[in-house]
Amino acid sequence: MERVATCGRRFVLATRQTMTDRPPGFFEGTEMPTAGWWEALWPDPAGVLAAVGIKHGMDVIDLCSGDGWFTLQIAKIARGVTAIDIDPNLLNVARHRLAENGVTNCDFVASDAHALADLVLAPVDFVFMANAYHGVPDRLRLDRAVRETLKTNGRFAIVNWHQRPSSSISRFESYHAG
Ligand SMILES: C[S@@+](CC[C@H](N)C(=O)[O-])C[C@H]1O[C@@H](n2cnc3c(N)ncnc32)[C@H](O)[C@@H]1O
Repeated sequence: MERVATCGRRFVLATRQTMTDRPPGFFEGTEMPTAGWWEALWPDPAGVLAAVGIKHGMDVIDLCSGDGWFTLQIAKIARGVTAIDIDPNLLNVARHRLAENGVTNCDFVASDAHALADLVLAPVDFVFMANAYHGVPDRLRLDRAVRETLKTNGRFAIVNWHQRPSSSISRFESYHAG
């Protein structure tokens, strides 16, 4: 595990990085996409956070935080954020993104998500996990770890893709094709 502290310096945001050597425990199919995809698919990350109920004053974990696309917006709302990702390079990109925006209420922890309960010293209000749950092989194990980190009445929000039958995809496409 590697802990990367936030510092007050300004950084230029690096381009998105992907991991070439996946560590043991990496969730299948959860690599960050190439630059530009998230801006197109998630143009309103703050709107997503409002929809799932992240509110001012909360302590939040951004689980599998990637390069910080959602982490930055969480940090703008929450009292504090812990960003956890197995890829230290992506955490560095996230750290630079937040520093560039003058945001200092975030800790960055490089770790397997399953170790969550050992990483978090005090229970939190909210665990947020976007675009990664589809790759979790043992969801019950992860759910238990999340539950151990939450306060009573804490919430776990999973933002993820759903498989759709190809017929519904065609309908969607034809709708947009006019
Ligand atoms: C598709 S990205 C999504 C990142 C971020 N949540 C977002 O939506 O912008 C999935 C992330 O999960 C991380 N990841 C994969 N396996 C992991 C594991 N076992 N523990 C922690 N993070 C993991 C990857 O490194 C990657 O950054």
